[in-house]
Amino acid sequence: MSKPEEYQHLKHAGNHCDVLKHVVFRACVQEQLNVHENGIILVDCHAGEGLYDLSKQTSGDFERGVARVVQNLDQTAPPAVHDYVNAIQEADEYMQFYPGSPMLGAKLLREQDEHRLVDLYVEDVEGLKDGALFWQADVFEADAVEFLVPNDDDRHKVILIDPPYLDQEDFYRAKVLTERILDRDPYCTILLWYPMIQKSRWRYGYAKSIKDMAKKKAKLGIYQAWLTVDKEGLQGSGMIVVNPTQRFDEIVDEDTIDWLSATLLNSGRSDYSLEQWMKKKKTKTETEA
Ligand SMILES: C[S@@+](CC[C@H](N)C(=O)[O-])C[C@H]1O[C@@H](n2cnc3c(N)ncnc32)[C@H](O)[C@@H]1O
Repeated sequence: MSKPEEYQHLKHAGNHCDVLKHVVFRACVQEQLNVHENGIILVDCHAGEGLYDLSKQTSGDFERGVARVVQNLDQTAPPAVHDYVNAIQEADEYMQFYPGSPMLGAKLLREQDEHRLVDLYVEDVEGLKDGALFWQADVFEADAVEFLVPNDDDRHKVILIDPPYLDQEDFYRAKVLTERILDRDPYCTILLWYPMIQKSRWRYGYAKSIKDMAKKKAKLGIYQAWLTVDKEGLQGSGMIVVNPTQRFDEIVDEDTIDWLSATLLNSGRSDYSLEQWMKKKKTKTETEA
């Protein structure tokens, strides 16, 4: 299937949405690796090409995104931002090529981890870990969860859901996919990126509906961070992490989101929010009762 023009992520690569998404993604995967020594399965549901040539980008989106982050980086910038910039510069120190989530994830993985990727249109993803499994398919098909969450493997699953949201249906489908994954594995860590678009009917209620569903289904808890940088159009975006580590809000913390929102601001006023809600850990006596 040839890739439709509107699905070319190059137009947006390195923009403010990619910055927020990739800062949270890197930190979240690293945290999961720290906790799961026996290995994780990292799944990228919307992999994209994996590497973007910014010299071919005509929108200039990256200049208001990753380029600003790099220009404003100093010793006072938060650690999660430093890690992100290091990863970008490790891919290409001159930043002509911007790495997508497959490469940013692959760089973190160890021997004992596995990388699984899906894209409906992309045939060749750059920067995969050796032996990665790649599936060219529609991730919203009902049977996709069997590939995303293999139930014959004990390793912890970490899944990025990052659809293009060009079609309004993607909002609905991404929620259904999140729910299907949690029904199969309520401990699975899911990262869901979503755009905040002016006047969209999903602008205010979407994240809440995901969190309400996940609060019932997820075993550990939920983290959410969003920020806005523009008065109009694509105003900003958010990341929801279902089943984060216990103190993920101290890793990508308020200082980090505040720093990003101030650095990436284009028009209007910068606005952001961060919250983490965890299910109470049962005490030993409660478990035994
Ligand atoms: C926003 S881009 C992904 C960017 C990538 N995750 C990153 O952070 O570098 C969205 C990708 O989703 C793919 N896509 C669109 N609809 C899809 C579907 N139903 N199933 C799987 N992939 C799909 C597109 O081909 C495109 O490459």
